[in-house]
Amino acid sequence: MQILTTNNDEQELIERVRAAGQEHVFRFWDELSDQARKSLLSQLREIDFELMAMLAEKFIQSGKSTTAKGELEPAEFIPLPESPDEQVQASLAREAGEKALTDGRVAAFLVAGGQGTRLGFHGAKGKFPISPVKHKSLFQLHAEKIRALGRKYGAAIPWYIMTSETNHKETVGFFEQESYFGLKTDDVIFFTQQMVPALDPHGKLILAAKDRIFQNPNGHGGSLSALKHRGALEDMRARDIDLIFYFQVDNVLVKMCDPVFLGYHVLQNAEMSAKVCAKSGPGEKVGVLGRVDGKLGVIEYSDLSDDEKNARNEDGSLKFQAGNIAIHAFNVDFVERENRGGLRLPWHVAHKKIAFADPLGKRVEPEAPNGYKFETFVFDALGDAGKTVFLEVRREDEFSPVKNKTGDDSPETARRDMVRQYGRWLQAAGAILPENVDGLNLEISPLKALSAEEFAADAAAIKIVDGLYLE
Ligand code: UTP
Repeated sequence: MQILTTNNDEQELIERVRAAGQEHVFRFWDELSDQARKSLLSQLREIDFELMAMLAEKFIQSGKSTTAKGELEPAEFIPLPESPDEQVQASLAREAGEKALTDGRVAAFLVAGGQGTRLGFHGAKGKFPISPVKHKSLFQLHAEKIRALGRKYGAAIPWYIMTSETNHKETVGFFEQESYFGLKTDDVIFFTQQMVPALDPHGKLILAAKDRIFQNPNGHGGSLSALKHRGALEDMRARDIDLIFYFQVDNVLVKMCDPVFLGYHVLQNAEMSAKVCAKSGPGEKVGVLGRVDGKLGVIEYSDLSDDEKNARNEDGSLKFQAGNIAIHAFNVDFVERENRGGLRLPWHVAHKKIAFADPLGKRVEPEAPNGYKFETFVFDALGDAGKTVFLEVRREDEFSPVKNKTGDDSPETARRDMVRQYGRWLQAAGAILPENVDGLNLEISPLKALSAEEFAADAAAIKIVDGLYLE
């Protein structure tokens, strides 16, 4: 096929695409408008063809879809405080974390670049209306937690939000429309992560349309390079911030910038830390913090044999029990270092259904997986940290993600867990509740209280009625 442009740069790019064996992406060239041609070329310009060749070789041509697993061991973590000594350690950690917040050293960092395919919500996942009474969106709940913390500690907590091409405009538009939920616009900073093309079983790029190559966001691991390359680290330094609290958009119970967690991280001179929840049972499909051939990271559920899943410690707890709940603390310096010489997190592959343009340019929705999507995962950076802290927290207080449309980890379970939490707070403050609150709609705004302790301090005689909303 002869593809000519008058522009040398473009000609050189076309040659590169050809040399990479991806010339088929020009199949509809003759039919494309000037603008469509430019758009196709600008997508191609961003593609790292060496990387794509490496991914094709590693995950497709070699016939292996996963890397071999090595020697697996569980990781140590700080358990829930029970003994007096553990309680003292936890309150020292809280003090240190509160000091970091008061000193304005902390940024909140939300990764919201994912596509939320399992939820099937038409729109950015953070816009999903979730709270039980007021139907506040996930974004609003997070924003109000950050506002409440800023007020409590008398220091701004800048909020960095990573989006992706798939939802950036929509996300920023939503914040504008909602007046940033009362936050200062200067303190909410959006930036996009990079995209990475998918490949077909022959290692070829996939045309999603005549002028568009199918690409997906490069995984939450891409947040570490985006923080650097989109200028967020620099912005943090200008604000004297050295600690980053990382969270994901779908966890309705996230304890935002938890001072106890940040405090342990600071006191133990950690570089990257993680919160964990005890697995609910051997069959819970969650990754666990552990070591693979001595290196810290997350062991995926599918990498544990049945024996390993069921193995128990002497006290009866699961050997591999430290479920990853995707909450991290990083030092700004650590993220900087991870980027030195280019971020080198390992790639993971998933065989997926990817809609494509057929030879006539018509969109086809395949019935079976037809392509390979690639992603990096943020927890793979744990093994690079000089020191880490893994802190156990209570699931009912801190983790209930909205992943699926129905069933486990769905809007229904998230609302149920919120109502149960508000119920516990009300009860601890002396309110009389029915034994089972699951049928009730209750909501306590983050602007009213962020914890049972804060709530109890401010709860006089409260009458429980369905639809109760406290702000
Ligand atoms: P998930 O792995 O649950 O993916 O992301 P998802 O895109 O939200 O949902 P599915 O798998 O398509 O159903 C966990 C968190 O990581 C973010 C998501 O936005 C979510 O907060 N994420 C994921 C990114 O920011 N970028 C990515 O490339 C992937």
